[in-house]
Amino acid sequence: MAEETTFYGLLEDIEKYLEHERDEGVQRLEVDRAVLEALAKEPEAEVAEEVVVEAAPVPDDFQSLEEVARHISGCTNCELCKARKSTVPGEGNGAGPDIMFVGEGPGAEEDAQGRPFVGKAGQLLDKMIDAMGYERAEVFIGNVVKCRPPKNRKPLPEEMQMCLPYLRQQIRLIKPKVIVGLGGTAMEGLLGKPVGITRIRGVWQEYEGIKLMPTFHPSYLLRDPSKKKDAWADLKLVLAELGREPRKR
Ligand code: URA
Repeated sequence: MAEETTFYGLLEDIEKYLEHERDEGVQRLEVDRAVLEALAKEPEAEVAEEVVVEAAPVPDDFQSLEEVARHISGCTNCELCKARKSTVPGEGNGAGPDIMFVGEGPGAEEDAQGRPFVGKAGQLLDKMIDAMGYERAEVFIGNVVKCRPPKNRKPLPEEMQMCLPYLRQQIRLIKPKVIVGLGGTAMEGLLGKPVGITRIRGVWQEYEGIKLMPTFHPSYLLRDPSKKKDAWADLKLVLAELGREPRKR
């Protein structure tokens, strides 16, 4: 099904394009003034009401993923609640899937739709899932933080700390056979310490007795496609662990 591109999705595409140009060494770009003015008109995020940030302990005995998602939707434990349009609790097979993918946090498109990995990086993740021989609905897809960090910056350590209890509760309820950590921030959240993703990718780790495979984040793979073969090698290790074969073409 084709997803409708929102204003924020378009902004994300422009951002990815600019990052790509920067990575290619481009230092100057000519942009029509009318384009800049049109982009500047749309508010980055409309804050419907004054939100008071107030940290309240997250229960550790949720009975269902729906209960976790409901709690997240009212969460004001960190500053990220102020500019969010939606919370993004995650989605997919919540009953013992082979794989749970964990990313960093929602981007513009995810914030607009309330669903994880539905922007450009999500399209690549969908291809990775398909190449592994799964449907998107057969796996669970979540994130370390459930609200979009402004301008897609990395979540701050205190934002991660406030949000991590939700991810821990989700993993407890979902009981995936294997977790795939997408990128350094996801791995930092899961392991509780900063890690170099280039160093640990492809090397099995463990989260609460569950096998955890670190690999590159799809956004990084979009910026540096030469790393896709490394990510694919990591995903093949996951398939071998699960006794599965990549999809036959
Ligand atoms: N990047 C992430 O880490 N998570 C998403 O949901 C989307 C993009």
